[in-house]
Amino acid sequence: MTGLIQVGWARLEDAPVVTEIVNHAYQGEDDSTCGWTGVAHLLGGPRVTVEQVSVWIHEDPRSVLVAREQNQLVGCVRLTALRATVGEISLLAIRPSQQRGGLGSALLAEAERHLATDWKCQIAELTVLAPRPELEAWYERRGYRTTGKRRPLKPDGEGYGEPMQPTLELVEYSRALV
Ligand SMILES: CC(C)(COP(=O)(O)OP(=O)(O)OC[C@H]1O[C@@H](n2cnc3c(N)ncnc32)[C@H](O)[C@@H]1OP(=O)(O)O)[C@@H](O)C(=O)NCCC(=O)NCCS
Repeated sequence: MTGLIQVGWARLEDAPVVTEIVNHAYQGEDDSTCGWTGVAHLLGGPRVTVEQVSVWIHEDPRSVLVAREQNQLVGCVRLTALRATVGEISLLAIRPSQQRGGLGSALLAEAERHLATDWKCQIAELTVLAPRPELEAWYERRGYRTTGKRRPLKPDGEGYGEPMQPTLELVEYSRALV
């Protein structure tokens, strides 16, 4: 990691940059611009819109965490209450030019800390769009295990984008926070 990272809740005015980072990290313009876990080979179209991100922040100002390095927004992650004591981590994304330096791990750890301390969650859940063995291995090295739940992504893409393969799956992972 370079420099000092500050993590805090996203403000409404951060929505455009959060959207840009998520869409760039997931899809970029092609595989070469999305970072090491991009999905440009699996899905087309944007992952999120500014409107969606604005609604999440507006409805719950403690739902999107952002990481700033020298006042530049470099990463984000969304937290959602799933069930009592279970929180969901989604849309963890680091600006591609800043990846591989420990930022993703640091932001994931901060998301887990907020779920455990602020939200009193005992379990973090997340869903990985597969096949992405390198990303599944990354989460496993950070203590996540598959719950055994996996299902095919529907042909409409379910808001993830436009599927470019018929065999995409959503694989559920979880990790104890206490
Ligand atoms: C997943 C993501 C958040 C990780 O962020 P990051 O800042 O690159 O992650 P870190 O620097 O903390 O970790 C890098 C690790 O990946 C490994 N790595 C780097 N490039 C790799 C590659 N091409 N293949 C496999 N592993 C690789 C590093 O060796 C390092 O491993 P270790 O720390 O476990 O030993 C980031 O890649 C991203 O924004 N991806 C797009 C959005 C996405 O798919 N999010 C997950 C939603 S479920």
